[in-house]
Amino acid sequence: MTAPPPPMSLLAELTHRCPLQCPYCSNPLALEPRARELETADWLRVLDEAAAMGVLQVHFSGGEPMARPDLPQLVAHAAKIGLYSNLITSGVLLNPTTLGQLAQAGLDHIQLSFQDAQADEGDRIAHMAGSHARKLEAARLIVAEGLPLTINFVIHRQNCARVPAMLALAEELGARRVEIAHTQYYGWGLMNRDALLPDRAQLEATEHAVAEARTRLAGRMTIDFVTPDYYADKPKPCMGGWGQRFLNVAPSGRVLPCHAAETIPNVAFPTVTEASLSDIWEKAPLFTMFRGTDWMPDPCRSCAFKEEDWGGCRCQALALAGRADVADPVCHQAHDHGLISQAIADRPQTPPPFRYRRYGGA
Ligand code: FES
Repeated sequence: MTAPPPPMSLLAELTHRCPLQCPYCSNPLALEPRARELETADWLRVLDEAAAMGVLQVHFSGGEPMARPDLPQLVAHAAKIGLYSNLITSGVLLNPTTLGQLAQAGLDHIQLSFQDAQADEGDRIAHMAGSHARKLEAARLIVAEGLPLTINFVIHRQNCARVPAMLALAEELGARRVEIAHTQYYGWGLMNRDALLPDRAQLEATEHAVAEARTRLAGRMTIDFVTPDYYADKPKPCMGGWGQRFLNVAPSGRVLPCHAAETIPNVAFPTVTEASLSDIWEKAPLFTMFRGTDWMPDPCRSCAFKEEDWGGCRCQALALAGRADVADPVCHQAHDHGLISQAIADRPQTPPPFRYRRYGGA
C-alpha cells in the first residue's frame, strides 16, 4: 500500500529515567540507560525533520522528560519551528525555576499524571514517598503560570473506587481536562495484571462515576475515559492503525509505530541516526509490516470492522498469543480470545504485591 499522510503528532520519549516506579509504566521492560540516550543535537534534528514532514505537535515524554536538562532548549526549538508542544510529566521535578524556564521557552500545554486522589496511596503506587504532595504543588504552579493543564489518572482495581475523588481533585486544581484511563496490559502492566485488573463491577462503577461527572461538569472540564479492553466487545484501534497516525522516537533514537513495538521480533528497528523520519515512516519494514489490511489473517481479513479497529493491538497479540500477526485476543472472534476469559477468571480475589518498574526488569 502507499504510505499514509504524515502523522499529526510525534511522541518524543527523551529518557526512560524516572524517579517514580509505577507498576503499569508504558516504557518497555528493558529500559535504556542514560549513556544510550540521544544527544541534544540529535533531538533538534528530529524536531526539524518532524516539522518538515508535516507533524504539527510534539509530546515530550519519558520516563520523566524533566530529567533532561536540555528540555527547555528542545521546547524553545519546537516553538521556533512552529510545533505545538506538550509536556507529559510526573511533576515531581517541577519547581518555580524549571517551570519558568519551560514557560519562557514557549511550552504550550502540560499533562500531569497522578497515581491516586489520596496521598498515601498515590505514594505507594508510585513507590516514591512525598510524590503526591509534589504533584499537588506542581499543579498549583502550572495553573498560576497560566499554562493549560490536563491531569491524567491511570486507574486499576486498587484505586478505581476513588474515581469520584480524582475528578473532584482535578476540578479543585483547575485542570481544563482530565483523563481517567484504565491500565492497558502490556509490558509492566501485563507483568502486574493480577494486581491491576478490575472486575466488571468495578469497571461499571467507574463508567457511572465518569458519566455523572460529565453531566455535572459540562462546559467546565472535559473528561476523557479509557476503558480496559479486556471487557470490551471489540478491540481498540491501537494507535489509530499501525504506522498510520502515530510516530514515537525512543530515547535511543529508535523510531517506532507505538511505545511497545520494540517487542516485535524478526524486524530491524530503524533509528534517527541512520535515516530521516520521513523515509522511516514511508518505507521502513517495521512501519509497513502491519500497515493497512493486507497483512491480516482471518477472522480480521473478512471482518466488517477491519478498517475501524485495524485488527486491534499488535503488541498485545504478541504478548498474549505469541504472534503479532494474529487478531488481538480481546476480539470476541479471535482464535485466542479464551486467553482473555481465562485471565479474567484467574484474577485472584486479593491483589498480589506490585512488581515495581525498575531498571533491568523486575
Ligand atoms: Fe503496539 Fe498496540 S501497543 S500496537
